[in-house]
Amino acid sequence: MFKKLRRKVLVLNLTVTTGVLLIAFSAVYLATMGMINADNLERLDRVASSFQLRPPPLPLPGDMEYDETTTILTADYVPSFVLVIDERRTITGVDSVLGLTPAEYREAAEIALDGATTGGLVLSGRTWVYKVDPFMVARISGGRIIHETVPGYSQIVFLDVTDSAKTLRSMLTTLLLVGIAMLVIIYCISYYLAKRSIEPVAQAWDKQRQFVADASHELRTPLTIMTTNYSVLVANRDETVESQSEWLENMKVGMDRMSRLTTSLLSLARLESGAPLGEKQSFDFGVTVSRIISSMEVSAQAKALTIVVDLEPELVIDGYEDLTSQVFAALYDNAIKYVNDAGTIEVAVTRTKKLVSCAVRNTGPGIAEADLPQIFDRFYRADNARMGGDSSYGLGLAIAQTIAGELGGKITAQSSENDLTEFVFTFETA
Ligand SMILES: Nc1ncnc2c1ncn2[C@@H]1O[C@H](COP(=O)(O)OP(=O)(O)OP(=O)(O)O)[C@@H](O)[C@H]1O
Ligand SMILES: [Mg+2]
Repeated sequence: MFKKLRRKVLVLNLTVTTGVLLIAFSAVYLATMGMINADNLERLDRVASSFQLRPPPLPLPGDMEYDETTTILTADYVPSFVLVIDERRTITGVDSVLGLTPAEYREAAEIALDGATTGGLVLSGRTWVYKVDPFMVARISGGRIIHETVPGYSQIVFLDVTDSAKTLRSMLTTLLLVGIAMLVIIYCISYYLAKRSIEPVAQAWDKQRQFVADASHELRTPLTIMTTNYSVLVANRDETVESQSEWLENMKVGMDRMSRLTTSLLSLARLESGAPLGEKQSFDFGVTVSRIISSMEVSAQAKALTIVVDLEPELVIDGYEDLTSQVFAALYDNAIKYVNDAGTIEVAVTRTKKLVSCAVRNTGPGIAEADLPQIFDRFYRADNARMGGDSSYGLGLAIAQTIAGELGGKITAQSSENDLTEFVFTFETA
């Protein structure tokens, strides 16, 4: 599934970047081509109009005569030639310094006369553009320059644009090569990014799947308890409730387990949905801690524990009392559950300017090094967990850590086996 997603992201990335590259490169190429073409046409026009104003050596066709005072204008030197053609398509004049053969001039004239008024052609291995105009001569009459069209004659100006065609071709090749190289680089980068961006999603997905599997598995136990006991109850329909109290009691245990589990799952879901934490209020964290410790006094006494509490005097803070006490309760509940009989539990709360640090330490078998990184995972229970009894799910620390995160704090754990286990809950006060 994620392979398919990665491929999709990759294809999408490549399509978009190829499109953008194509548009950018085409724009550059077309703009350059437009500029070069416009430049060539301007040069062509310049040659054409300067030729129209030129006097012989061209022989003037018909009975037209050359006026000695005709203005002579020379165009910038550009590799070009001009053909004068009569109405029978005969070349009557050639103005060229280029060493083309008569057959080549003829071929050029034929192509130009058969084509549009301006166009391009390849002649003698070079690229040319041409322009067909009516043939005009210029002369001075009565002190004024007069331009006259010579009826039946046309002039065709040819301009050598091999260099600019070459420039355009090499530009196209460069753009293609750069484009291909960029696509290869973009492919590699996209592949890497697609892989990296999908990895956390895949991990979260796997975690979620594992979570659903674990939750279903955990729900099965109380359901089995209830179903089995219900069957016994139904099998003895005629008996009194009193006489069936054992089965009913068992069903109650199942219901309690299920209720505890669903409450935990719900609170995890609520926390992760990003629901607002509620209103901040001022409360004394020391009082909260003492209240939770005394609420579990019975369990502590049953195990003959020594409880050492060290609270800083000034612990009034602005925050979320319910959530903060839930974290401490989870840590203290674990300490009571996993401490050795007649062991010791120490609770120490200190406060710096902005940070409150609440440490809960207990003696006992501790947590193996291999288990330590996993104890915050949902449904994870280390080997020592049988000490906690069957009523535990391995959700306490996962929920506590999530709450701590929501409060902008964290929980750290360290443990030396058969010695001391310490959990430290640190959170900001404002
Ligand atoms: N103070 C502790 N001493 C030793 N082991 C601990 C301690 N706290 C947690 N653990 C280990 O970490 C595991 C995870 O703890 P967590 O509180 O998440 O689950 P739990 O206590 O087993 O179940 P739940 O809290 O859902 O009732 C426990 O099963 C236990 O193995
Ligand atoms: Mg717990």
